[in-house]
Amino acid sequence: MIIKELRLINHRNYDDEFIEFHDNTNILVGKNAQGKTNLLEAIYIAARGYSFKSIKETELINFDKNAMYLKAVILSKNKRKNVEIKLSRSYNKQIKINDVDVNVSDMKSQFGVVLFAPEEILIIKETPSLRRKFIDDVISNNDIAYKIYLNNYNNIRRQKNLVLKNPAKNKYFEQMLASYNTKLVEYGAKIGIYRYKYLNILKKYAKEFHSELTSSKEDLDIIYEYNFAEKLDDLTIIEKQYYDILLDKKTSEIERYQSLYGPHKDEIIFLINGKDVKNYASQGQQRTVMLSLKLAEAKLIEVLTSTKPILLWDDVFSELDNTRASLLVQKSKKYQNIITTNSLVNLDLDNSDSKVFTIDKGKVITGREKDGTK
Ligand SMILES: Nc1ncnc2c1ncn2[C@@H]1O[C@H](COP(=O)(O)OP(=O)(O)OP(=O)(O)O)[C@@H](O)[C@H]1O
Ligand SMILES: [Mg+2]
Repeated sequence: MIIKELRLINHRNYDDEFIEFHDNTNILVGKNAQGKTNLLEAIYIAARGYSFKSIKETELINFDKNAMYLKAVILSKNKRKNVEIKLSRSYNKQIKINDVDVNVSDMKSQFGVVLFAPEEILIIKETPSLRRKFIDDVISNNDIAYKIYLNNYNNIRRQKNLVLKNPAKNKYFEQMLASYNTKLVEYGAKIGIYRYKYLNILKKYAKEFHSELTSSKEDLDIIYEYNFAEKLDDLTIIEKQYYDILLDKKTSEIERYQSLYGPHKDEIIFLINGKDVKNYASQGQQRTVMLSLKLAEAKLIEVLTSTKPILLWDDVFSELDNTRASLLVQKSKKYQNIITTNSLVNLDLDNSDSKVFTIDKGKVITGREKDGTK
């Protein structure tokens, strides 16, 4: 998909702005706190119907106003779609595509977008739950069934944990535990298979991108660690092994008052040249891994939907040297991409396939600030 135009009224620090994007590379340059991330957020909302920031939606409305409005012209599978989003302090959000009311769930299947937000570097550095969430989001965005399995699994696990916390008080303890375990196995085994399948594809793509971004100096590997089966290829065998583990480890789960086996304990390990990225990689290396994963996600969406997603790269160049930054711009050219940065210095931009916008206190000026180049 390609975003051709965007009109923003009262979105965060914007008053009334209209932007025509380039079909290829778009660079939003500006100092801190001018509205670059806010603009990426507006594009994301136009594509998805909601923000990537976990906020109350009314926070999107300019502090001094009562309503905001976004209108985007998006090309998707060669069809022109006018997306309109209205949000007010007193009414529910309204989304229209070509004048027809739609829900957020209708948007997901229409427009592909891949966002890199600077805080996502934590996916690499912090707890395994962030890595599980990353892969879960990638899969859920491409397969609705997965989201249902995941919700069911998590609900049952919470109920099982409640029972494990108070076994003595529950005369049906044994029956309830057996019933929860049966359901955990049913959904958990499917989650394992999905994660295994998607991680294998992402690994293949991310390895290639990572090798290109590092001029073949670094080899990325991704290892999926799980504790509920020996191998993740045959659903029936996984279910059997998983159930046997739950039976076998029943005492330890009771002693620890919690469910200890299943995909909620999965870990995803990233290795560069055999070394754990979490513990050994530099900031720039960690960022390169995350960006390779995002490019891999874009390719996955492209392969699954036969449509190219838009890349929204927020502050991607920090911590990258010039070579890596230029290679990233090169690799991103396969898609329409919108990149924010504090400085254009040392970016090897070709005017024929890129457009620069200067963002200054909620105003969008086409061209670079100093020389006004278009
Ligand atoms: N609802 C709102 N109404 C008005 N202003 C807002 C609203 N929400 C956020 N802002 C302001 O928008 C400004 C720009 O934020 P934004 O995150 O887009 O900056 P940025 O250009 O990405 O900066 P940086 O380079 O530091 O990342 C902030 O100063 C913030 O206070
Ligand atoms: Mg920002």
